[in-house]
Amino acid sequence: MLERDDVGARHPGVCLITGAASGIGAATAWRLADDGARALVLVDRDGDRLQALGDALERPGLELFLCAQDVTDEEGWDGVEHGVRHHWQGLDAVVVNAGVSESGPIAELSLEAWRRVMSVNLDGGFLTLRSGMRLLRDGGAAVVVSSASGVKAEAGIAAYAASKAAVIQLAKVAAKEGVPRGVRVNAILPGGVETPMWSGMDFFRDMVAALGSEQAAFDAIAAHGTPLGRYAKPEEIAGQIAFLLSPAARSMTGAALIVDGGYTL
Ligand SMILES: NC(=O)c1ccc[n+]([C@@H]2O[C@H](COP(=O)([O-])OP(=O)(O)OC[C@H]3O[C@@H](n4cnc5c(N)ncnc54)[C@H](O)[C@@H]3O)[C@@H](O)[C@H]2O)c1
Repeated sequence: MLERDDVGARHPGVCLITGAASGIGAATAWRLADDGARALVLVDRDGDRLQALGDALERPGLELFLCAQDVTDEEGWDGVEHGVRHHWQGLDAVVVNAGVSESGPIAELSLEAWRRVMSVNLDGGFLTLRSGMRLLRDGGAAVVVSSASGVKAEAGIAAYAASKAAVIQLAKVAAKEGVPRGVRVNAILPGGVETPMWSGMDFFRDMVAALGSEQAAFDAIAAHGTPLGRYAKPEEIAGQIAFLLSPAARSMTGAALIVDGGYTL
């Protein structure tokens, strides 16, 4: 029987993070390691960067399980579930973070590009959360990394925005399903965050070339449309994810926490 005080009591414990090799995922891995995680299960399709992160994170008392796989690989998740059960019997925290973006107006968006985004952000998010709901111990917690684009429309990001809206609802349904076991599920909706995700976008690369540095490009975009005038650092989002996973957020489940410098105001 779950006791009321069991909710969040094992934080940070054994934590799984997808998209862990870069940006918000890597910052979250560092944060949870610094907070005293017992083990980190890190999933990313970029095996080299994942290995480099694992090497850098190594420290006494922290167990690492590096899974170089695509989040859309259903069989790969069977392997992750098996490995987690074998080593730790279950998980205390899950961060559903891997994501990709494509831009272009709807009239010019190919079905292939649409499916590429949906496949990673929605199918991959579902598979991650499905394994998470199977593995989370009573009183555990999950955070789904959505985006402010999931609630605020902008031209040119239809697939990304639709996928991010969908995962908010995925998180809310999971939150209801988790209630009997005290498992909390929340979504976080960042605005702009200074991560390598942007360097995949043509317009951003053009801005970097014109303005001379990535920081100048981030500052220029943030100056238009983000009331606080700056993009977040990945470490800030990692801190907010750590909060949502922690006992300090014990009364939060099914929330969609907007952390966007006022972008959606
Ligand atoms: N950067 C932003 O401005 C911003 C804003 C709002 C939300 N987000 C969301 O935050 C999350 C993390 O993004 P980021 O900015 O840190 O990006 P990033 O590109 O720095 O990191 C994403 C990581 O996910 C991995 N990945 C991508 N597709 C994968 C797949 N199919 N299987 C396994 N791994 C995969 C990549 O290899 C990479 O390591 C994403 O869901 C993104 O949509 C980012």
